[in-house]
Amino acid sequence: MSLEIKLTAKKPVRSELHVTLIHSDRFISDDLGLDTQTLRASGFDADSGQIIFLPATGSEPFLGPSALLGLGESSKESNDIYRKAGNVLAKAAKGFKQISAELQSVILDENDIAERAQAFSEGLLMGAYEYIELKSDTKPRKLSTVSIVGSGRKMSKGVERARAISRGVNLARNLVNRPGGDLTPTAFARVASKTSKEHGLSIKILGLPEIKKAKMGGLLGVNRGSTQQPRFVQITYRPSKPSKKHVALVGKGITFDAGGLSIKTSQGMSTMKCDMGGAAAVLGTMSALEDLAFPVRVTGYIPLTDNMLGGDATRPGDVLKIRNGKTVEVLNTDAEGRLVLADALSLASEAKPDAIIDLATLTGACMVALGSEYAGLMGTDADLADQLLQASEETGEDLWQLPLPDSYRSQLNSEVADMKNIGSGPYGGAITAGLFLKEFVAEGIPWAHLDIAGPAFADAPWGIHPKGGTGFGVRLLLRFIEDFK
Ligand code: BES
Ligand code: MN
Ligand code: ZN
Repeated sequence: MSLEIKLTAKKPVRSELHVTLIHSDRFISDDLGLDTQTLRASGFDADSGQIIFLPATGSEPFLGPSALLGLGESSKESNDIYRKAGNVLAKAAKGFKQISAELQSVILDENDIAERAQAFSEGLLMGAYEYIELKSDTKPRKLSTVSIVGSGRKMSKGVERARAISRGVNLARNLVNRPGGDLTPTAFARVASKTSKEHGLSIKILGLPEIKKAKMGGLLGVNRGSTQQPRFVQITYRPSKPSKKHVALVGKGITFDAGGLSIKTSQGMSTMKCDMGGAAAVLGTMSALEDLAFPVRVTGYIPLTDNMLGGDATRPGDVLKIRNGKTVEVLNTDAEGRLVLADALSLASEAKPDAIIDLATLTGACMVALGSEYAGLMGTDADLADQLLQASEETGEDLWQLPLPDSYRSQLNSEVADMKNIGSGPYGGAITAGLFLKEFVAEGIPWAHLDIAGPAFADAPWGIHPKGGTGFGVRLLLRFIEDFK
């Protein structure tokens, strides 16, 4: 069950725990009626992310259990700080059923109310996330309701937005966390279909015969080693007022990446259920669009297959023909993501959208370059890249831009086909993958590629994320779409 957030004008009389948010400078100087000296001596300074629980007093006036939640210095206040506060609170207070939090009164600038309420609520809703559906002996989290003290349109707008966004993030996390043998291409398509029904999206699902008819040679080539059928999912959001702007989102949907005949090591394979992180981010994003009512048409393209080693799997040296007619010599079957994306980018191009953005857990090389917290950004259009960097800045989902130099293109030259699917030599693998994708985006359409191999999956708890799927990209894309020019 997901956490419920309510808005209440006054502190509820019956609250199991009442939480006060507080800036560190205020805490040091002020008369809160608290013994701040003792609290500080015990290590609580109201730094960002600090929380301390205070026992109930038995005497009159009876005060129930409470907590102080630090926000750090008021001069450094930001949405990130409030998101972190909500996140810390959801985790620390999970033993309570119903709690309340004094929020509106602590927000410094009236103009920030909606954003801060949104960030705090996002923190709570993402912080309450746990992936326990496959555990038999875990008690579900107790915390079911947080009453935020505050009122007015700005507050409720912030909370409402957070609900839609966090639902999208948690959907993406769930999809990434589901094991590869369970979340097959068919199962993913089923979730997409249910999500579309629930959130006012139209959906088209191509099965094997339709994928053949659509000449998606990349998707078929990767699927050839699998006993699971591929799927190609296309989802559309149409705003209630017809919009001139159209964004295409493409997500890599490899439901498990064993590497194919160029098989991975067991270590390298162990987390490869995460290889549909791009697809999950696209579906999570799409799921929030109707509630957020953004005035942009958005189409999601999701190629789905696993990358296995069956007796008739694509062999190194085989040549595939992508939907746009270009031929690819597959020299490493583990470079499969770009093959399925090639078909999807070709199809997306045919709709002539105003921008195409793809998200893919594409290369280990990108993690070597940037570590696991940054996604690599590449593309053909400076303005589109700037809009994404702006959204990144505003959401705290970090991007770093890499170049796509024409001079590296020759690394993809093939003796027998239009190109091969890997670069030559050990360097610049994230970039040669980006250059490969570029071949399948029609001339003149602004395009950006996000290599999310690092941030899509956390090997250990990271920031506001538990171990496992992070839903990276959902918040970034939603902010981008909202401001798209
Ligand atoms: N899915 C992997 C990339 C990946 C690696 C994602 C680690 C998340 C964590 C991708 O399909 C892959 O195998 N890429 C190869 C490309 C190489 C064969 C050119 C890689 O990065 O090693
Ligand atoms: Mn691979
Ligand atoms: Zn892969």
